[in-house]
Amino acid sequence: MPEPSTPSFNQRFDIAFAYPVHFTRGLLQPGNTCLPDTLDRLKEGRCHRVAVIVDSGVSDARPAMLEELREVAHAHRDRMELAGPPLILPGGEAVKNGWKPVRNVMTTLGDLHLDRQSFVLAIGGGSLLDMVGFATSIVHRGLRLVRVPTTTLAQNDAGVGVKNGMNEHGQKNFVGTFAPPFAVINDAEFLTTLPPPHWIGGVAEAFKVAIIKDADLFGQLCDDAEALAGRDLEAMARAVHRCAVLHLEHIRTSGDPFEFGSARPLDFGHWAGHRLEVLSDYHLGHGQATAVGIAIDSVYAAANDLLADAELEAILTGLERCGLPTWSDLLDRRTPGGNLDILAGLEQFREHLGGELTVTLPAGIGERIEVHHMSAEAVADAIGTLRQRTKQDR
Ligand SMILES: NC(=O)c1ccc[n+]([C@@H]2O[C@H](COP(=O)([O-])OP(=O)(O)OC[C@H]3O[C@@H](n4cnc5c(N)ncnc54)[C@H](O)[C@@H]3O)[C@@H](O)[C@H]2O)c1
Ligand SMILES: [Zn+2]
Repeated sequence: MPEPSTPSFNQRFDIAFAYPVHFTRGLLQPGNTCLPDTLDRLKEGRCHRVAVIVDSGVSDARPAMLEELREVAHAHRDRMELAGPPLILPGGEAVKNGWKPVRNVMTTLGDLHLDRQSFVLAIGGGSLLDMVGFATSIVHRGLRLVRVPTTTLAQNDAGVGVKNGMNEHGQKNFVGTFAPPFAVINDAEFLTTLPPPHWIGGVAEAFKVAIIKDADLFGQLCDDAEALAGRDLEAMARAVHRCAVLHLEHIRTSGDPFEFGSARPLDFGHWAGHRLEVLSDYHLGHGQATAVGIAIDSVYAAANDLLADAELEAILTGLERCGLPTWSDLLDRRTPGGNLDILAGLEQFREHLGGELTVTLPAGIGERIEVHHMSAEAVADAIGTLRQRTKQDR
C-alpha cells in the first residue's frame, strides 16, 4: 500500500467516436462507389484489406451478390482488396447461441492476418451483425467493422448502434461489448428478398421509438400501415430512415451511449419482449416479440392513466394493421410456482442494466416516463386485456 501522503492520480481522458451511416441503393451495382468511399473515408492513401462475412440468408436470396462484390473490389482495386473468399454463415438468432460461429470468425480473421487497421465487412441481419461485431471487437481488441444490415430491424436499429450481444446463460444478450462500427451502409434493396416476418419485424422498433419519442413518426406509421404490410419499399425506406436517425440521435445526445446508468429508454417493451424470445426458444422473432412487449406496456400505461384509451387503441390497431402481433400464447405460461413466467423478464432486465429497475413507459404518444416498479397484478391484468382482445378477434 502506498503511504497515506502519496497523492492519488486521477486518470481521465475522452475518446470521440464518429461513424457515418449511409443510405444508398444498389450498393454492389457498377457505378456505386459507396463501399470503396466508405473504406477510404480517412484518405489514408492505401489499398484496404477487407474480410467479408455474409449471412447465408442474404446470399441464398441473391446468389449474384458474391460475384458483384468481387467486381466492385476489382473496379476499385486501388482502394480495396478482398483478403480472402467471403465467409458465409447461417444467419438468424441461432448464430448468437454458442461459441462456434464466433470462433469461426476469429479463426478466419487470424488466418487472413488482418491487423487493427484492416476491415471486416459484415453483410446480414441483426443476429449475424451482433455475432460478427462481437468477434471483431475482441480480435486484436478491435478491428474496423463496416456493417451492411440487410433486414428492416437491422437497418433501423440493430445495425446502426454501438453494441453487440450474444445469448448465454439462458439470457438474451448476456454477453457482448460496446464497440462502435467504422461505418454502416443501409441499402434498402436488400429488404426486397426478406421473408414476411423479417420484412415487417423492424416496424415494431419504429413503433417503439415513435411511441416514446416522435408523435409524427407514429402518425406516419399508422398512415402507412397497409403500405408497410403490403411491401411498399418506399414507405419502408421512409420508416427505416426516420427510425435509424432517432436511434442515432438518442445514442449521441442521451449522455449515456455506453449505458453506464440503469435506464435504457429505447428498450420500451423489451423486458417482456426479450423474455418472450427466450420462452419461444427464439422461434418468435425479435421484432414480433417486441411488438407484444409494446402491447403489454401500453395497456399497462393506459391502466395507469399514462395513455388515453384512444391512444392505446391507435397503438394496438397500428401494430395489428401492419401485421405485427399483440398477443402470444406464451404470455399465459406459468412457472412451477404458479407465477406468470413472463414476469421473470423484469428482474433479468434489471440485472442486465444494473442498479434500480428502470422501465420506460409512454406518457401520451411521443413522450415517456421512467418507472421503477411494475405491479405483477397490473401486468397480469394487461395480459388479460390482450388475451380478451385476441379472443374477440378470433
Ligand atoms: N446490437 C443491437 O443494438 C441490437 C438492437 C436490436 C436488435 N438486436 C438483435 O438483432 C437480432 C434480430 O435481427 P434481425 O431482426 O435483423 O433478424 P436476423 O438477423 O435474426 O435475421 C432473420 C433471418 O433473415 C435472414 N435474412 C437476413 N437478411 C436477409 C435478406 N436481405 N433477404 C433474405 N433473408 C435475409 C437471415 O438469414 C435470418 O434467417 C436479435 O438477436 C436482436 O437481439 C441487436
Ligand atoms: Zn429491439
